[in-house]
Amino acid sequence: MTVKIIVGAQWGDEGKGKITDILAEKMDLVVRYQGGNNAGHTVVVGDKTFKLHLIPSGILYKTVTCVIGNGVVLDPEVLFQEMATLRAQGIEVSPDYFKISSIAHVILPFHKLLDSKQEADRCENKIGTTGRGIGPCYTDKISRNGVRIIDLLNKDRLTKLIRQRNWETILNTNLDIDGIIEQYHQLGLRLKPYVTDTSLYINQAIDAGKNLILEGAQGTMLDVDHGTYPYVTSSNPVSGGACIGTGIGPHKIHQVIGVAKAYSTRVGEGPFPTELTENMGELLRQRGAEFGTTTNRPRRCGWLDLVGLKYAIRVNGLTEICLTKLDVLDECKSINVCTSYRTTDGTVLTELPLDYDEFASCTPIYEELPGWESDISNITDYDHLPPNAKAYAQYVSEQVGVPITLISVGSRRNQTIHLLQV
Ligand code: GDP
Ligand code: IMO
Ligand code: MG
Repeated sequence: MTVKIIVGAQWGDEGKGKITDILAEKMDLVVRYQGGNNAGHTVVVGDKTFKLHLIPSGILYKTVTCVIGNGVVLDPEVLFQEMATLRAQGIEVSPDYFKISSIAHVILPFHKLLDSKQEADRCENKIGTTGRGIGPCYTDKISRNGVRIIDLLNKDRLTKLIRQRNWETILNTNLDIDGIIEQYHQLGLRLKPYVTDTSLYINQAIDAGKNLILEGAQGTMLDVDHGTYPYVTSSNPVSGGACIGTGIGPHKIHQVIGVAKAYSTRVGEGPFPTELTENMGELLRQRGAEFGTTTNRPRRCGWLDLVGLKYAIRVNGLTEICLTKLDVLDECKSINVCTSYRTTDGTVLTELPLDYDEFASCTPIYEELPGWESDISNITDYDHLPPNAKAYAQYVSEQVGVPITLISVGSRRNQTIHLLQV
């Protein structure tokens, strides 16, 4: 029996979907614990590309039950669309092996409208959200105004909950509130076969000796508590969020796996010390196909930041790292790795500063490592990697003090090097 958390160690899009899919082969359950359809997890199997936003990245195996935990915010329309897309690709999503928490919060049309309005009102200080209503939905949850899946099933309660929010005043527009109430009640009835007490279900699976992955969305630096606030998402992607978002106790967790790219990317606004705005940034973007899975925005690209990675190891308690997209560096003559930051007054920092302005003004101090200048995308055995590629992975692992247990050299399942049994 094993319970593993998979968490993004950077700003999201590290390849959590691919890693979850690889490790899910030996799992019984894959559970999403936070976020919503702001996430985009791409899984490539053979000639098919699956883009998952809400459904856990274990869905491609018939032997895996997928669960949406209570910590997720769920847009029912998006979920049904995702199910239809999967079905068209030959993947059935049946209530026998797909469960949704009855107490997960629901993203309503008002949340999406408010997300756009808030971004417009922020003028110069935009977050660059995905516009999916994530922040407003979590805001309603925390301020005890939310609507949960269970509430969709009771039309009187749903009416009361929606009516008490005065959405027309908040959004300053006329809305068909009655129509929306009826629509979401109907969506609730369609969800009903999947709706379960998922904490009970997950704990029973653990007690029965099953193998579980708790799959995070986004990444450590987007965590509402530990990320680069306010340029963050509105949930807790860090490992601590996995217990809250699934309803299991911390002593049930065995491994916390951090997924990190061999370089860095970020979508949306906010500080990014190692960002490369010129040629090298463009090379990484093109080679790594760094365009958002959810919004198709070009991702900002930069060198690997070990100060950030060490921070991720600390706040998540990472036990190991899966290093992804090493192949993207194949053409580099030399590769920079940020080992510390210099502040505006010349102070050298080896720990991430929590003051936003200080972090934003940091410049990276780099160690330059030699590139391998050859194609590694077909290598599946660590010993066959070019010496400089091995040296790069070893350097990262030694600097941050946790083992790298898997190296990914391409988006496909077979483009994976297992170093230790994960
Ligand atoms: P996630 O949000 O963390 O699941 O990551 P995304 O799926 O948004 O972004 C990662 C992208 O990189 C996807 O398009 C993957 O198919 C792709 N990918 C994953 N691992 C590798 C790898 O090792 N090499 C390359 N070249 N692409 C990869
Ligand atoms: P996955 O799971 C990368 C970013 C947005 C924005 C900020 C807040 O695919 O790694 P939100 O819509 O959540 O209120 O936006 O967070 N963001 C992501 N960036 N990958 C993601 O998910 C993200 N989900 C949200 O770009 O900067
Ligand atoms: Mg993504």
